[in-house]
Amino acid sequence: MNTIICGLQWGDEGKGKIVDFLTEDADLVVRGQGGNNAGHTVIAKGKKYILHLIPSGILWDKQCIIGNGVVMDPVGLCKEIEGLEADGIAITPEKLLISDRAHVVLPYHRELDAAREMSLGDKKIGTTKRGIGPTYADKANRIGLRLADFRDPEKAKELISTRLKEANRTLAHFDLPTFETDAVFHEVEEAIDRLRPHFANVIPVIHTSWKNGETVLFEGAQGTFLDIDFGTYPFVTSSNTTSGGACTGSGMPPHAIDRIVGVCKAYTTRVGSGPFPAQNDEIAEFFHSRGLEFGATTGRPRRCGWLDSVLIRYAVMVNGVTDLAVTILDGLDDRETIKICVGYNINGEIHEFPPAERDHWDDIVPVYQEVPGWQESTTACRAYDDLPQLAKDYLARIEELTGAPVSYVGVGPDREQTIIR
Ligand code: GDP
Ligand code: IMO
Ligand code: MG
Repeated sequence: MNTIICGLQWGDEGKGKIVDFLTEDADLVVRGQGGNNAGHTVIAKGKKYILHLIPSGILWDKQCIIGNGVVMDPVGLCKEIEGLEADGIAITPEKLLISDRAHVVLPYHRELDAAREMSLGDKKIGTTKRGIGPTYADKANRIGLRLADFRDPEKAKELISTRLKEANRTLAHFDLPTFETDAVFHEVEEAIDRLRPHFANVIPVIHTSWKNGETVLFEGAQGTFLDIDFGTYPFVTSSNTTSGGACTGSGMPPHAIDRIVGVCKAYTTRVGSGPFPAQNDEIAEFFHSRGLEFGATTGRPRRCGWLDSVLIRYAVMVNGVTDLAVTILDGLDDRETIKICVGYNINGEIHEFPPAERDHWDDIVPVYQEVPGWQESTTACRAYDDLPQLAKDYLARIEELTGAPVSYVGVGPDREQTIIR
């Protein structure tokens, strides 16, 4: 059963936890897009891990792959490896392979990211400043460097030097420090050398696993409404975060995929700027006062709101979701009543799908349905039938509104706190 796991909201849906949960029965875990803008939390055996570039399957001692569609920060990845190794998790080339077609995030990409944000002023996207957008832009502009280019250091330096001519002009325009080729190369050299044994043509590895009937998991990063095509453009990331990105980002053909698990929180959150029709300050205060909803990558408090079924219904279509994983149901345990956004009123007209026009997002008045809360703890529930009836009713309403079946439910951050229906 080759399975794609992807986010149905604005990221941070709990994908890491679901990937970790499904990895026990998998053979290979692959990341196909995004970079270290991702922060995937897994709590296993009482210990918390936050993965940024390394697939969340690494904690199970399964083989993991960083695919061609990922933008890879070598220094960031080395730090992540060091952190895991300090916790006794050895990261050998047998356990982690990196596609030699993956594009490399270089120091000037981070500066260009910051420069762009600065120039946007109060219209800034609120990026993670990890250089993700500029690295993908270089890829599309055909001026990026791939890991394979670093097999010949002189070739890599030549490509950096060509790229810097233009990048330095942009940085100088913003009065930001410019870069020298040798200094850029030197800054990543040690990390690249450390990672060299992990570089590989990963396609045969993934295909052999598939052909041998093994189970491959594809770990999505970000979420559907951060997708460059389907998200709230321009307040999006720079990759296809939807299920198609898993195939183009790994070399696995679409017909090899058996299941698509869409992960959504029982409510909604967003980090960074951009539209969020069902945002609600009262519920944000409710979560923040409980220490919940602070970003795993940047520590920023997340914006919070009610579940938006308009978004999830669209995300179910775009991703081809076969199974829903509803996470953090326990987050709503104490609520007397819960709201669900069931439609968008735009200038008196009810819309069932999100608009493409950027200005229309500001005109949305959410249409809410209010349902009673269950007001009891779900954190100890381990079977679907252990859940309070009102919680099951809430999940049934989500199925009804989105057209996809709920197959997994999260009732706490720990690996064990996952219910299979
Ligand atoms: P990801 O980026 O989609 O992997 O999600 P993050 O790790 O950034 O954010 C999800 C947060 O919710 C993390 O702090 C998780 O530990 C936590 N989490 C995941 N599932 C559950 C759940 O079912 N209940 C609770 N209470 N927390 C959860
Ligand atoms: P995971 O995988 C939540 C958001 C940023 C910003 C926008 C663009 O943990 O769900 P970028 O640095 O990618 O150019 O920023 O996307 N963003 C995320 N928000 N979770 C993420 O990843 C995110 N990755 C990027 O906050 O709004
Ligand atoms: Mg996250």
